[in-house]
Amino acid sequence: MRDDLGMLVRDMKAVGSPFRQYLNRLYERHRGNTEGAVATYIPELARANPQWFGVAAMTVDGQQFGVGDSQQPFTIQSVSKPFVFGQALSEHGRAKVAQRVGVEPLGEAFNSYIKLDANSKRPHNPMVNAGAIATAGLITGADPTLRLRKLLTMFEAFAGHPLNVDVGVFVSEKTTGHRNRAIAHLMLNFGMIEPDIDQTLDLYFQQCSVLVTAQDLAAMAATLANHGVNPVTGVRAIPEDYIRDVLSVMYTCGMYDYAGEWAYTVGLPAKSGVSGGVIAVVPGKLGIAVFSPLLDVKGNSVRGIKVCEDMSADLGLHTFAPTSKLDELLGK
Ligand code: DON
Repeated sequence: MRDDLGMLVRDMKAVGSPFRQYLNRLYERHRGNTEGAVATYIPELARANPQWFGVAAMTVDGQQFGVGDSQQPFTIQSVSKPFVFGQALSEHGRAKVAQRVGVEPLGEAFNSYIKLDANSKRPHNPMVNAGAIATAGLITGADPTLRLRKLLTMFEAFAGHPLNVDVGVFVSEKTTGHRNRAIAHLMLNFGMIEPDIDQTLDLYFQQCSVLVTAQDLAAMAATLANHGVNPVTGVRAIPEDYIRDVLSVMYTCGMYDYAGEWAYTVGLPAKSGVSGGVIAVVPGKLGIAVFSPLLDVKGNSVRGIKVCEDMSADLGLHTFAPTSKLDELLGK
């Protein structure tokens, strides 16, 4: 259950704060941008309203901010990938996970399979589909239900409240995910994953179909920013030791073939998904989430990129920028 009273108090404290005013202005700045297109390759995703636009943030001391459609539910899609990678690390440790999935940026589309061949020991990284499917295959549990439950429990610890799978999107992905099936078969052929690929693919499709809001994603990003502990509930979602692994792959591989440009301009660990979610993490300070289903040709949310670019530039959030204005705006 959410701590409603606690949330209200924190929200009231944050009302009218300079940071909230800044987020409102940022939202208005990008509201009219209708560039991009909604993803259609999964039939259920094509039903998204192109006008949806929400921005949310959570500080590591639990202040919450939301503008626009920040409470609109949507499926998490690829934003799930760094969290499942964290779960695999928690279960197996670095050495075993490194045998199954690399940490090298690919510079190609998220659903690429052309760089998988007999010479590649493992998929490039856990942020592209091949690596994410291999990572889902590392989640242990006596049966598929328990494995899904384990992932949901992990996502819930990050978000701070119960979450569900959108069964319609899951079935839509399962019945049309031929490319992901091809990737899994190719990896099986090269001995990169275990033989029960149908169960592994189901778990991968289910992790992508978890329903979240931008507020939830901000809480999940804030949990990463807060060394693995949800700032509102105080629940640990991932051992602190693996935060650096998750943030490193988000920094180098989180935005697919835009990752280099993103690292240069925004300079924050991030992850996007085809339903239009983008998260960015300001370590030790803030989790940011944007939701807008209009995507660019690389599969990243157009408004998601613009909002994060502006926030990074306006507030000096780039990892290698000399100063940050965030504390000042938050009244610290
Ligand atoms: O594998 C897929 O097709 C989706 N379930 C997830 C892909 C995704 O979100 C990639 N993001 N840009």
